[in-house]
Amino acid sequence: MIIAIDGPAAAGKGTLARRIADHLGLAYLDTGLLYRATGRRVLDAGADPDDATAAETQAKSLDPADLDRDDLRTEDVAQAASQVSAIPGVRAALLDFQRRFAAEPPEGTAGAVLDGRDIGTVVCPDAAVKLFVTAEMEVRAERRFKELQEKDPDVIYARVLEEMRARDARDQSRSVAPLEPAKDAVIVDTSRLDAEQVFQNALQIIDRSRC
Ligand code: DC
Repeated sequence: MIIAIDGPAAAGKGTLARRIADHLGLAYLDTGLLYRATGRRVLDAGADPDDATAAETQAKSLDPADLDRDDLRTEDVAQAASQVSAIPGVRAALLDFQRRFAAEPPEGTAGAVLDGRDIGTVVCPDAAVKLFVTAEMEVRAERRFKELQEKDPDVIYARVLEEMRARDARDQSRSVAPLEPAKDAVIVDTSRLDAEQVFQNALQIIDRSRC
């Protein structure tokens, strides 16, 4: 069983995907980490994340250990990830890994949950369940702001909102695999729901799709 969870930044898809995977005993892949690790490597190499050749080279030489780095969750890496993810050669280089993970999940689980931007549309178009998890921009920016504030009390809300707006716009307007719901995806708006409500909601959708 493959469950595809897509949506914009800070909509709650990672939390949901992890809980569903745990609950159903499925493997979990946060595909954003592949793009973040690529962006991180490009920055480390002193290159420009918009440079297609540099970004493709880094995507092709990605190592599983790169996904375990503890410096992938910063805002500059998020922006670099969004930039490299608009480059077709980068997406092509990372596609195979994602599809193999879904087809042959590690530890022989009966399936996998993948979250990202194009899982239901491109990576796993035949997924049994497709959720598009979203929330109002201001709600998402507020959530990200609170997260960042725990590490850095000087973080500025207006800046977080602006960066999120820019990232969403780039992810939605790129020519390859733009962020958009698959035609058969169920939209889950988390603006006024807590994590538990989102989880229960998703379980009902999954149950319905199994009947
Ligand atoms: O989910 P995230 O915030 O970690 O993703 C970081 C960036 O990676 C996001 O802005 C766009 C890109 N991405 C993508 O293009 N396709 C995916 N399946 C996952 C992430």
